[in-house]
Amino acid sequence: MSHPDARAELIAYHRLSSHAPDRYAPGPGHLDWATQPDPFRRYAGAPRIDLPEPEERLGVPAAVLAGNQVPAQPLEPATLGRLLRFSLGLAAWKQWGESRWSLRCNPSSGNLHPTEAYVVTPGLPGLAPGVHHYVSLLHALEHRATLARPEALTAAWPAEGVLVGLTGIVWREAWKYGTRAWRYCQLDAGHALAALACAAAALGWRARLLTAFGDAQIAPLLGLDRADGHGEAEPETPEALLWVGPEAPGQEPDPARIEAAFRLAGPRWQGRPNRLSPRRREWPGIAEAERAARKPPTPPVAPLSPATGPPQPAALPRDHTLDAGALFLQRRSAVAFDARTGLPAAHLWALLDRLLHRPGLAPWDAVPWPPRVALALLVHRVEGLDPGVYLLPRGTGLEGRGEPVEGAPPHLGLVRLAPGDARHFARLASCHQEIAADGCLAFAMLARLEAALDEGCWWYRWLHWEAGAVGQMLYLGAELCGLRGTGIGCFFDALVPQALGAALPAPASDLYHFTLGAPVEDRRLRTHPPYEGLAGWRQAAGGRGAARPLA
Ligand SMILES: Cc1cc2nc3c(=O)[nH]c(=O)nc-3n(C[C@H](O)[C@H](O)[C@H](O)COP(=O)(O)O)c2cc1C
Repeated sequence: MSHPDARAELIAYHRLSSHAPDRYAPGPGHLDWATQPDPFRRYAGAPRIDLPEPEERLGVPAAVLAGNQVPAQPLEPATLGRLLRFSLGLAAWKQWGESRWSLRCNPSSGNLHPTEAYVVTPGLPGLAPGVHHYVSLLHALEHRATLARPEALTAAWPAEGVLVGLTGIVWREAWKYGTRAWRYCQLDAGHALAALACAAAALGWRARLLTAFGDAQIAPLLGLDRADGHGEAEPETPEALLWVGPEAPGQEPDPARIEAAFRLAGPRWQGRPNRLSPRRREWPGIAEAERAARKPPTPPVAPLSPATGPPQPAALPRDHTLDAGALFLQRRSAVAFDARTGLPAAHLWALLDRLLHRPGLAPWDAVPWPPRVALALLVHRVEGLDPGVYLLPRGTGLEGRGEPVEGAPPHLGLVRLAPGDARHFARLASCHQEIAADGCLAFAMLARLEAALDEGCWWYRWLHWEAGAVGQMLYLGAELCGLRGTGIGCFFDALVPQALGAALPAPASDLYHFTLGAPVEDRRLRTHPPYEGLAGWRQAAGGRGAARPLA
């Protein structure tokens, strides 16, 4: 049960952060370049541990994401490095004229990357016990906390694995997007969770969200709760805690036990976070929403039993020819589509199959609750499927009142709600963005937001994480079809729910849009490899936190 005030705060935030054709959510309206946030958090004075040279491939086909098991790699610094590199690491640099900016394996609204990652370990051969912060720029860990008595944590450690904590620096997004930014942070967190889960699967590992932990239990593990912690640096809030490793504990570790063991282990914090902007401004609604949606400790979410339908999703065209690592590195957002290319219906069925929640299959253990996000499809150019509006309920109970789709595998539950050309509507509903009309199809992700809040206000975040994870699978699926996707966070909130209202069994909110098609490249941009200058950057970063190469 949620507190009525907190629920009301979140509903108020959702309304305030909604876009409508005649009213955009409060935002800066222009970019204040003088306060552009640094995309990389660093902890000055925390010793740096350089991870082994990043690789280009993982040596397993992308089919590993469809459940083709691979032997588990041992947990050691090199494999931990692979996990982080292929989920949250740099994927490329882009250059236009004199400006250069990096892209990462995980996408982020506006490429602003609010999500930071930490690893908590009682120690591995070659990696000291404690808390480490991942610096994607240097592909390195900063040793944030040492442990005086690591054996206390070892005694409570349930299996071979590490904890990966994700946090959010909302200012990075708010700088550009104002009030709506906090939603984007949540969607980004969902993408990051799925990216971690997919990279883990390619190592033969599991990544499981620890659903029982409350935010106030995560914060001390990541060093976010200390009065001296952030000083003038922009606040960082706890998001998610994952168990990642070759072994998955039978049940979620007890938060109280981990918390107590960590305290007993005697963490000693080191390093000062950098300030990302010389000044910042607050946007209405964000602090209230963030506070209202904090998660208390709860019983863990019970793992789902396997759903009906085939245990493995159908194959996508490049499953067996593309290396999983290469797939994670090549994922990009399209900035324009050719408005011509079609997607064969058989490929669409396989793509949709990847979006069904299968317990034990990446990324669904990272968003492990029974699915709550259904997808409306605005089909423009799918060969063998009439243009129109369709619904993929994903087992959410948001079944559409429509006709079954001939030729679609019945276990998808896909229905057609309305035939017709939805291109104009898709463009309009996505804040007039051409990409929503020029691709093969566009998606709107729908959930019963207000009903979920009745169960607990943190569901506001969890629903957005689920939508982000679905988006991540669409990004990867698009690449596996030889196409490209783009997440769309800018949409007019009321349009799709209004248009579909009568066809849905209950009122639903629109959380995220996505589109995919054949990309048109921007030829003015030059692309550079992600870690071409790594040795020099590491040297330049030098300082007190000198690199300690691993054996
Ligand atoms: C939550 C989210 C919302 C996004 N919204 C939009 C959007 O409305 N329009 C758009 O063109 N791109 C959008 N993008 C794509 C980002 O701009 C893109 O991920 C970012 O520039 C990084 O590029 P990359 O995905 O190629 O790594 C969104 C991405 C995410 C994750």
